[in-house]
Amino acid sequence: REIVVSGIRSTGFLHLGNYFGAIRQYLHMQHTHVCYFFVADYHSLTTHQDPTQLRANVYRVLAEYLACGLNPDKAALYVQSDLPETAELYLLLNMLAYKGELEKVPTFKEKIRGKHEGINAGLLTYPVLMAADILIHRATKVPVGKDQEPHLEMARNLASRFNQKFGFLFPEPVAFSESGELLKVPSLDGKGKMSKSENEMATIYLADSDDLIRKKIARAKTDAGPQAPNSPKSPEIENLFLLLKLVSAPETVAYFEQAYDNCTIRYGELKQQLADDMINLVRPIRERAAELQKDIETLKKIRKTGAEKACASAQQTLQLARSMMGIRYDE
Ligand code: TYM
Repeated sequence: REIVVSGIRSTGFLHLGNYFGAIRQYLHMQHTHVCYFFVADYHSLTTHQDPTQLRANVYRVLAEYLACGLNPDKAALYVQSDLPETAELYLLLNMLAYKGELEKVPTFKEKIRGKHEGINAGLLTYPVLMAADILIHRATKVPVGKDQEPHLEMARNLASRFNQKFGFLFPEPVAFSESGELLKVPSLDGKGKMSKSENEMATIYLADSDDLIRKKIARAKTDAGPQAPNSPKSPEIENLFLLLKLVSAPETVAYFEQAYDNCTIRYGELKQQLADDMINLVRPIRERAAELQKDIETLKKIRKTGAEKACASAQQTLQLARSMMGIRYDE
């Protein structure tokens, strides 16, 4: 079976972008692949360095993973820093990563835009650590959203550079989406993607109450309505339809598409439906996650068991990488 790795940073509440871009795919793949899913706590330290919040954030992501339906008996669920092999592979891969190529990674450029100080080296080498997460298990598929594509390209470059220099060790991993196309879940304000740090009212979190979800959807931008049959949709309306396609039944989507095309659509009705269907998705996850978070001891056990599972494959890879690079002084 193919090996799959993916992770989410512990920087706050998970949202529908994380759910549809990443977690929904984890849910399917855990049944068909050898899966390693982790909480990327080291990566969160590139931007979020609050020691008191980190622990709660890590356990929250773990709880949300489980609440969404990830099964610790099927997939290895662990925390990045519980696997020291990743950190060592990261160190080794750093020797193969060029400063120039790291500076060109779009996500890095975006993060430092307008900044002249406080840009730490961890931010620059973020993709190297991510490559280490993936290559430590010699994974081939990485279920992620569209924003992660440049990082996967970097992981492939590092893998092939290692293979060329030291002999074959790493298959080249690809960003994976079941639909064939990597997803970008739009934010509710019509600007960019849903994200943890952007405008909170434009992002639906898995922890949001029913009322808050209704309020956020109600506030989402619309336009004056279609002015003629079969007219193209404005970006705001396009986004609402995109979200509808993610959470609603195909018949529902077809109903509103048709209403749009023949100019009978009422945006209030569309929003009501969208809110209802989002609530149906989010409510059980929110309630389960809240329960799970009360029982840190159980989460701790799951974390430890997951790390043990991940450890075997990580140790093997690291040993090979060290030895192939010449770190074998006991022979
Ligand atoms: P993070 O925490 O930013 O995002 C976690 C996952 O959610 C996806 N995602 C989205 N997908 C679609 N639409 C959106 N609006 C949206 N917002 C977020 C992201 O694409 C991602 O899949 N670097 C990773 C964490 C990581 C990782 C790894 C992933 C560290 N090491 C190794 C895979 C393999 C990240 O930014 O996570």
